[in-house]
Amino acid sequence: MKIFADTAIIKEIEEASSWGIISGVTTNPSLIAKSGITLTEAIDKIVNLVDGPISAEVKESNAEAMVEEAKTYAKIHKNIVIKIPMTIEGVKAVKELTKLNIKTNVTLVFSMSQALMASSAGATYVSPFMGRIDDLTEKDDAGFKLVKDIKEMFKTYNFKTKIIAASIRHINHVEQAMKAGAEIATIPYKVLKKMVKHELTTKGLKIFAEAQEK
Ligand code: E4P
Repeated sequence: MKIFADTAIIKEIEEASSWGIISGVTTNPSLIAKSGITLTEAIDKIVNLVDGPISAEVKESNAEAMVEEAKTYAKIHKNIVIKIPMTIEGVKAVKELTKLNIKTNVTLVFSMSQALMASSAGATYVSPFMGRIDDLTEKDDAGFKLVKDIKEMFKTYNFKTKIIAASIRHINHVEQAMKAGAEIATIPYKVLKKMVKHELTTKGLKIFAEAQEK
């Protein structure tokens, strides 16, 4: 499973990409607002830090306007993927962008039916939101089941759309995404940092350091 950074904060992307494990970046309007810079400014900087798919979300809500907005982002760099919300207008825009050879990531996906709509329109990626569906259902495996079901459905019908497990809140989500067969997980910086840690690693390091002292 590839690791994308789910952030628009440049310092976080710089740090995480220096570890050599980041294959792409996803942004959304909330993450852009948090970063304190505009989407275009963020894209300009991120493309120089990460050589992989970088999702930029459209602000427009009707298909024609989404396509026009998408074209302006796609022109900036070959790695730009257009993030489109799961609506009828969004599906129409994905169909059009697919014809234009512009890659898309359909976001806010919470069901197999929505994933089918996205992949039928030619979406390059779909983003099922694990954390938000867990919150809604008050279950800790609703996100896992969602990703697993979509993966099986894509396999059954031979869809080429890749799954980006999104809305990841903790390590368990990352591991559930792997078990469910997601091709990618987009992970917030604070979770990325936790992924190298384990209490027994910390304890083991202390024991070895003490032994070396002796
Ligand atoms: C990524 O593509 C999504 O926009 C992001 O993972 C959403 O996460 P959230 O539910 O924590 O806002």
